Amino acid sequence: MTDKKPWAGRFNEPTDAFVEAFTASVGFDWRLYRYDIAGSIAHARMLARQGILSAEERDAIVAGLERIRERIDRGEFEWRVALEDVHMNVESALTADIGVAGKKLHTGRSRNDQVATDVRLWLRDEIATIRDEIRRLQRALLDLAEREADTVMPGFTHLQTAQPVTFGHHLMAWFEMLDRDHGRLVDCARRLNAMPLGAAALAGTSYPIDRHYTAELLGFDAPAENSLDAVSDRDFAIEFAAAASILLMHLSRCAEELVIWSSAQFAFVELSDRFCTGSSIMPQKKNPDVPELVRGKAGRVFGHLFGLLTLMKGQPLAYNKDNQEDKEPLFDTVDQVRGCLRVFADMVPTIRPRREAMRAAALKGFATATDLADYLVRKGLPFRDAHEAVGKAVALGVTKGCDLAQLSLPELQSFSPLIGEDVYDVLTLEGSVAARDHFGGTAPAQVRAAVARARQRVAT
Ligand code: ARG
Repeated sequence: MTDKKPWAGRFNEPTDAFVEAFTASVGFDWRLYRYDIAGSIAHARMLARQGILSAEERDAIVAGLERIRERIDRGEFEWRVALEDVHMNVESALTADIGVAGKKLHTGRSRNDQVATDVRLWLRDEIATIRDEIRRLQRALLDLAEREADTVMPGFTHLQTAQPVTFGHHLMAWFEMLDRDHGRLVDCARRLNAMPLGAAALAGTSYPIDRHYTAELLGFDAPAENSLDAVSDRDFAIEFAAAASILLMHLSRCAEELVIWSSAQFAFVELSDRFCTGSSIMPQKKNPDVPELVRGKAGRVFGHLFGLLTLMKGQPLAYNKDNQEDKEPLFDTVDQVRGCLRVFADMVPTIRPRREAMRAAALKGFATATDLADYLVRKGLPFRDAHEAVGKAVALGVTKGCDLAQLSLPELQSFSPLIGEDVYDVLTLEGSVAARDHFGGTAPAQVRAAVARARQRVAT
């Protein structure tokens, strides 16, 4: 194999040694080799079908490319920086292996449509894997939510105790966030599935190619409509990074809750030792590193989204070398998303809820105050008056250091004569959650129904 650059014809001087390293992308884009080879095989088949290559040339090219793929798989391929990128490395190796037929592979093609195709094929597969991981995490949440459908915890707004909810209901909120993320990735994969090949450098090619056939071979829905757009569009990368950012924003919120809940002050859950680490100085420490790191990685992925947006901003059509900078942020986004999902999906089944602590916390913050107001409304008081009466009852509770359910009947009646013995039914945590018994509500029966519906959704 030689290091002769395929484009060396019009040059008289060799490339500056540093420029060669500076402009090369093979150090990272070698990762695309399977897709590069799959795209080349489809291209060669199309060329032969159109009479542009002979059947023998096609067979030599396909067999040669398959041998190269196996060599790379086995780690026996020598990547050369002088050959710039994955595309020229593979093509050079092919020519070294099969001779002149290898030099014909690039007929009717450019690295511009080639790289745009490779990245789409790669990302399409990665999105499929990520979707599977989201589903795995969702299923873990469903199992936990079903087990904890009756577990009462305080629900928060402003991180202040608001109303009692069930732990299962809270976990189902996480499920819904992830379900939208899954949907965004489905959309993204659908839009990216248009094939750039055939656009060549930018204007198309003078050979009688059949782009529909190549698209079919590669599992694209259709060839991209416009050759200039085909080589310059990186929307799919930005769209993926945006979907990934929203997903990690969601995971960071879940992570933050786990950090709070696993603290000694809350103690709502216990994380398995397998997902925590200790401190080198404080012997008592068990740190929630995994959720913290997921929370941190969200920032890194948001950075990639902004990097990609900035990369594309103001670029004139069509292809520009700037586009080579799309790969590292994209690769890292995929790696971080996959890592975060994997660790979360592994960790969720190990979460141990501490039901008594959740219950005790729910009893503390006057969580059933709204239930008392609703009770008074049912007895005929306008809601605003009820709100005021309950506010005064809460103030008494604060002064006495007790919850509403611990106030005596005469004490409660001093705020409204409408209050009767039956008030204690609504002041209990179980009564409060059971009363929110409508579609999307926190009642245990509703949580079980939501889990059942959700199981159907993740089955598809
Ligand atoms: N390594 C390049 C990239 O990642 C491949 C395309 C190069 N095309 C070109 N005209 N220099 O974008």
